[in-house]
Amino acid sequence: MDNSAKDPAKIQSMFSTIAHRYDFLNKVLSLGVDRYWRKFAVNQLPTLESPVFLDVATGTCDVALEIIRRHSRNTKVVGVDFSEGMLKRGKEKVKQAGLENRVDVQFADVTDLPFDDNSFDSSIIAFGIRNVREYEKGLREMGRVVKSGGKVIILEFTSIQHPLFRAPYKFYITKVLPFIGEVISGKKGAYKYLPSSMLEFPGPDEFKQAMERAGLKNVRYHRLSLGITAVHVGTVE
Ligand SMILES: C[S@@+](CC[C@H](N)C(=O)[O-])C[C@H]1O[C@@H](n2cnc3c(N)ncnc32)[C@H](O)[C@@H]1O
Repeated sequence: MDNSAKDPAKIQSMFSTIAHRYDFLNKVLSLGVDRYWRKFAVNQLPTLESPVFLDVATGTCDVALEIIRRHSRNTKVVGVDFSEGMLKRGKEKVKQAGLENRVDVQFADVTDLPFDDNSFDSSIIAFGIRNVREYEKGLREMGRVVKSGGKVIILEFTSIQHPLFRAPYKFYITKVLPFIGEVISGKKGAYKYLPSSMLEFPGPDEFKQAMERAGLKNVRYHRLSLGITAVHVGTVE
């Protein structure tokens, strides 16, 4: 993929453009499986009495809200994103759920997080890291702000799927998905970037090595749904 496609300004405006239809499109395009992937990732967070978790690239806050549903009553989440359009939708959903006292939604770039070292019990990012040109810098930041022993969790599409599934999946991703995306979002070309960003992102082993280079320890991963997505979990030293 042309690296300019991941120009942060382009990514920011692309997500703001599709924000109004983002949740609906996620469900349609993933046939509803996206919720299961997020649940799996959220389940990798440690169980603690009163944790504060960081949800990076929170978008419309689905992961932040899933954390609140699945963790103790004293759990708090800070959700950050750099797309104003996505943050607006996220804030609306948090307000509708009456959770403004437990989910704090803020503007921030994953490559330059505005938090002190050791501020959070763990950090998580879902479907965000593949959009970040300097993704190792992002991983380093996600580790820096987490306390020793905490987890850094990444849910992302991977470029390596089950061999028998690869051809139909590629057809779906490159032909069907951009068409449906364009029709539902009403934005021409908005979903052109998605297939290449999904298919060209590193395979799970390569990504594991990137996490290790970013200083994370005991990195392991789980492949989900025939390798469409993977959840990587690293520990902060
Ligand atoms: C596909 S959405 C995922 C949103 C949400 N995590 C989810 O599970 O639905 C990707 C999000 O990453 C955000 N993003 C991309 N690059 C970012 C960066 N450098 N810093 C912060 N957010 C970023 C986008 O604005 C967008 O909201």
